[in-house]
Amino acid sequence: MSPPDQTQSFDALVQPDRVHRDVYLSESIFAQEQERLFGKAWLYVGHLSQVPRPGDYMTLDLAGQPVILVRATDESFRVFFNRCAHKGSMIVSERAGHTGRAFRCPYHSWTYRLDGTLLAVPAQGGYDGTQMRACETGRGLTEIASAHYRGFVFARLAASGPAFDAHCGAMFHAIDALVDRSPSGEVEVAGLPLRNIVPCNWKVYLENINDAMHANVTHESASMAAERVWSQAPAGVKKPMGIEILMPFGSDNDFLARMGGQVYANGHSIFGSNMSIHSCYSSLPDYETAMEKAYGEERTKHILSWVPQNSIVYPSVAFKSAPQTIRVIRPLAVDRTLIEVWAFRPKNAPDALLERTLLYNRIVFSPMSIVAHDDIHVFETIQKGLRTSGNPWVSLHRDYVAGEGDAPSMTTSGTNEILMRNQFRAWRQYMAAENAYAVQA
Ligand code: FES
Ligand SMILES: [Fe+2]
Repeated sequence: MSPPDQTQSFDALVQPDRVHRDVYLSESIFAQEQERLFGKAWLYVGHLSQVPRPGDYMTLDLAGQPVILVRATDESFRVFFNRCAHKGSMIVSERAGHTGRAFRCPYHSWTYRLDGTLLAVPAQGGYDGTQMRACETGRGLTEIASAHYRGFVFARLAASGPAFDAHCGAMFHAIDALVDRSPSGEVEVAGLPLRNIVPCNWKVYLENINDAMHANVTHESASMAAERVWSQAPAGVKKPMGIEILMPFGSDNDFLARMGGQVYANGHSIFGSNMSIHSCYSSLPDYETAMEKAYGEERTKHILSWVPQNSIVYPSVAFKSAPQTIRVIRPLAVDRTLIEVWAFRPKNAPDALLERTLLYNRIVFSPMSIVAHDDIHVFETIQKGLRTSGNPWVSLHRDYVAGEGDAPSMTTSGTNEILMRNQFRAWRQYMAAENAYAVQA
C-alpha cells in the first residue's frame, strides 16, 4: 500500500463543476483510491445464487486483494481474505467451486472450517508451547464485513466504517426494481459473465453509465442501422427484439432530459428515474400473466411501469431492472478497468424474459457488439486526449447550480451532469479522509 500523498489537494482537483485530468491519469491517485475509496466503500461481491450449497465458493479481487465468498455450514455466507494464515498462500485459485466441509491450503495442508476457523495443521505437536494459536495465525482466515440485500452481496475491506444499510440503503428500492420483476420474488445468476477489460480509468466508465447525451452521438450508427432495417420490413411484421433494443439509442435530447435523474448521498444515483430507453419494449403476455398471478393486476402494473435505465450503487455496480442485468466495475490500473456483465434469470418466469436479457447483453455490452465498441473507442481516446497540453480540466458544468450539493438527494433532468458531479462529491469525501482505512487486525 502506498502512503497517503500529502502533496495532493483533492479539493483543488475536484471542483464543484469541473475536475482536473490528474484524477484520471495519476498512478499515485489511483493507488490512493485503492486504499481510501475502494478500501472503505461497500463493494459488490456476487449473488447468493452463485453459492447455493454449503461449501460452494467463488473468488474475486476487491481493490487488488483476493477474497472468497463461501456458503457456510449453517447456510449463512462469509467473505474472507483469500490468504492462508500459515505463510500467505491463496487458499483457492479457481473462480468458483465446491470445497466440501473445509478449505485445504495447497501449500502445507492447513485446513479451515467454512466459518474460517482453523480445523487442523500437520505436525501439530510442533506448535505445542509456541504462540501460534494465540496470535493472528491461530485465528484462521480473516473475515471481511459483508451483508446482502435480496441476495446481492457486498463487502467492506475496512475493519470499521458505516453499516451497509446506512451507506447503501437509499438504493435498495432500485434493487427491488430488478428482483420484483420475478414472479417468485427471486432471481438467480444465469451463467457466466461477459468480461471485458476497457482501456480507461474506472471513473470514465462509471460516468458514462450516467451520460445521457452521448447515446445518440456515439451510437448513432447502431440506432440508424436498426431504423433502416426496420423501415424496410414488410408491413405487419412483429418488431424483432434486437431492433426494439437498438432503436431507442437514437432518442433525442428532449426524451433524454425527460427520462429524469435522481442523486443520493455517497455517490449513488438513478439515471432514468421517470422512464428510459427500456420503457417501450413490447409486452410478453405469458410473463405478464405470471406476474399478475403472483402480485395482482395493480401491483404488477406498478412494478412493470418503473424502468430506470441505470441505478448505480457507488462505486462498484450498476443495475438495470429491465433487462435484468448488472455491470460490475473493477479497477485494475489507472487506465485499465475490468467490467463484468452478469445476467439474471427471474425464477419461474417464461424464457422470453431471459432471452431478452441475454440478447441485450450480447448486442450492447459484449466487446463484439455493435454498441460497446463505440464507447470503448471513445474511452481509449479520452485517456490519450487528456494528456494534451493547454487545458487540464474536464467539464461537468451542464445545469450546475451553486449550492446544489447541500441537498442529500435530489431529482433532476436526465441530462443534468449532476449525475457525474455527485459521483465526484462522494469521491472527494472518501479521498479527503484523514487516513487510509484501518487495516484488518
Ligand atoms: S501456506 Fe498454507 S499451509 Fe502453509
Ligand atoms: Fe454508450
